[in-house]
Amino acid sequence: MRIHVADHPLVAHKLTVLRDVTTSSPIFRRLTDELVTLLAYEATRDVRTEPVTVQTPVAPAQGVRLADPKPLVVPILRAGLGMLEGMVRLLPTAEVGFLGMIRDEKTLQASTYAQRIPDDLTGRQCYVLDPMLATGGTLADAIGFLVDRGASQITAVCLLAAPEGLEHLERRLASCTVPVTIVMAGLDQRLNDQGFIVPGLGDAGDRLYG
Ligand code: PRP
Repeated sequence: MRIHVADHPLVAHKLTVLRDVTTSSPIFRRLTDELVTLLAYEATRDVRTEPVTVQTPVAPAQGVRLADPKPLVVPILRAGLGMLEGMVRLLPTAEVGFLGMIRDEKTLQASTYAQRIPDDLTGRQCYVLDPMLATGGTLADAIGFLVDRGASQITAVCLLAAPEGLEHLERRLASCTVPVTIVMAGLDQRLNDQGFIVPGLGDAGDRLYG
């Protein structure tokens, strides 16, 4: 598992405003969108392309286009939905699948209540969107789901992660042969007793959608 924490002053600035408890829901949504586009630039570094030739006004030029099969973008409902537009802005030809997952507030166990994902993901690069990687249970289940359907490469884009969640993911993916990368805007200190990231930004779903 590869971990990449974005190191960019604009990411740090937007994340700071996002954390601020006084930031309103409309601003929170806009900042999430902007942050994801910045993170998507890093997350798509390995996106598969194929050579193509175009004719400029002067001469033929060698270039690339996204290779088939096109990548699959998977927001984890509900909060991941706030990251979808920012991601597909950079990958407009990507297909989008949905996973609805909820974490029990007491047990902190994740469960899946909806899925709309192609049955066969053989050879597909998948980009999972979820703002918060807390205990890591949600993302581990989501990645397992995509691996079981044949995904060839998985990149998760998160806003914040806790060290405990990354350790949990490492353990759950120990025998996974599919390459997994986690790209995030920030790695925070710890989880509190309620399973919230500290200092974090609170409940991303609530801050996005109330
Ligand atoms: C939050 C968050 C992640 C999950 C992280 O979603 O958006 O999906 O919890 O927790 P974990 O790493 O400990 O599994 P939540 O269950 O609150 O649902 P929501 O997006 O519908 O608000």
